[in-house]
Amino acid sequence: QDGDAAAGEKVFRKCQACHAVGEGAENKVGPALNGIVGRTIASGEGFDYSDVLAEMGSAGKTWTPEELGAFLTKPRDYAKGTKMSFAGLRKEDERADVIAYLATFAGS
Ligand code: HEM
Repeated sequence: QDGDAAAGEKVFRKCQACHAVGEGAENKVGPALNGIVGRTIASGEGFDYSDVLAEMGSAGKTWTPEELGAFLTKPRDYAKGTKMSFAGLRKEDERADVIAYLATFAGS
């Protein structure tokens, strides 16, 4: 269940075309992901989210590891109408690892 952040760094290669993390990370095709674990859904500054994610955020939902795992399994099933064009991570260990990696990047 607990992910391996070092392995997650490699998994994150699948995300990097669209997402940045770390110092100076900016929005790309997708929002910057610093502080994403625990953050309110669709609350990245200066990013134009889909209605479906924006509504989840307005309803007060946050990206717990469980919600992230569900989203990353099949983004378009979790959030119908999402702008994230990514099939998903089918393997549970890949999801846990990338979430552990993302958790190493704190705040804003
Ligand atoms: C949104 C993670 C791959 C494009 C998001 C969000 C997360 C995330 C957590 C929600 C952000 C928020 O609420 O602030 C990941 C991870 C990936 C991945 C971990 C790899 C495993 C990709 C890829 C693309 C992409 C490959 C581009 C082809 C987007 C876009 C959004 C988004 C456009 C905004 C979605 C919307 O507003 O509906 N991603 N992503 N992501 N991602 Fe990804």
